[in-house]
Amino acid sequence: MSALRYVSRANRRRVLWAVYAATLALSAGAGCRQRMADQPYYRPLEHAEFFPDGRASRPIERGTIHRAQRLETDPIATGLTREEWERSYEYAVPPTKVDVGALNEPEKILRAVGAPRYNPLDPAAPKVYVNEFPFPIDQAALKRGQERYTVFCAVCHGPLGNGQGKIWERGYLNPTSFHTHKVDPKEVTVSNPQGLGISRGFSLWGHTVPMDRVPPGYIFEVVTKGYGGMPSYSAQIPAADRWKIVAYIRVLQMSQGGNVSPEIKKLLDAAGGKQ
Ligand code: HEC
Repeated sequence: MSALRYVSRANRRRVLWAVYAATLALSAGAGCRQRMADQPYYRPLEHAEFFPDGRASRPIERGTIHRAQRLETDPIATGLTREEWERSYEYAVPPTKVDVGALNEPEKILRAVGAPRYNPLDPAAPKVYVNEFPFPIDQAALKRGQERYTVFCAVCHGPLGNGQGKIWERGYLNPTSFHTHKVDPKEVTVSNPQGLGISRGFSLWGHTVPMDRVPPGYIFEVVTKGYGGMPSYSAQIPAADRWKIVAYIRVLQMSQGGNVSPEIKKLLDAAGGKQ
């Protein structure tokens, strides 16, 4: 206590109290740590009163995904049919290395996955993309799609989907319009080698496909992986919302007199009627 000799009597008392309080807190902390290490616990498969089914080991929650699960094979996560994705494995790990550069055009298409192999205008073409929504689309889903579209897509594609959003106004590459005709009196004529509302992805492979005829799985794939100047949105938008955005794009197309397939029209009509 020699250091305290220079401290006034009142302050000395204060210092002693502080030391006392600190010692108390430390010892309480130590006690607490011991109790935490010694909590009650259940052994695997032991009986437990706490849960109504009496099981201490809880069943796995519905929808839990194992971290090694190959989710990418699921059409809901790829937009591709399962057959198409499985096919891709044959080519991803070929038995002998293939010199893709040396292949002719039909061989290249045969080895490709997705858009190159698909022509939505040809009924005999292989079914490469998911062509129906993987869960029921009701009004709540469309509302969510509209909201997410407005958050993530409208900045570039415009609220009506004509590709003339604010970011394009500021000089970004012109996004593909979802309509084959002008839908806004203020719409600027943009020179576009593919033509207004024609999918650029499919024209790369020689198919002229209007955006209202591309399968929903294709739009899903574009949002998931990005396309050309468009970034991927898989990190920002969960798969379920991506599908809802696709459904909302169909609504935009229909609302502007687009020519969506009768099955999708029926589905959306039904969703619109459900309150
Ligand atoms: C940063 C701007 C930007 C945003 C945000 C954006 N896109 Fe795009 N999108 C583009 C551009 C640019 C293209 C055309 C790319 C090209 O031609 O290289 C495009 C093309 C597309 C295409 C057509 C591909 C084709 O075959 O022509 C679809 C479908 C599409 N976007 C959907 C969406 C959806 C859905 C969202 C919201 C989740 C979205 N985009 C958000 C810029 C954007």
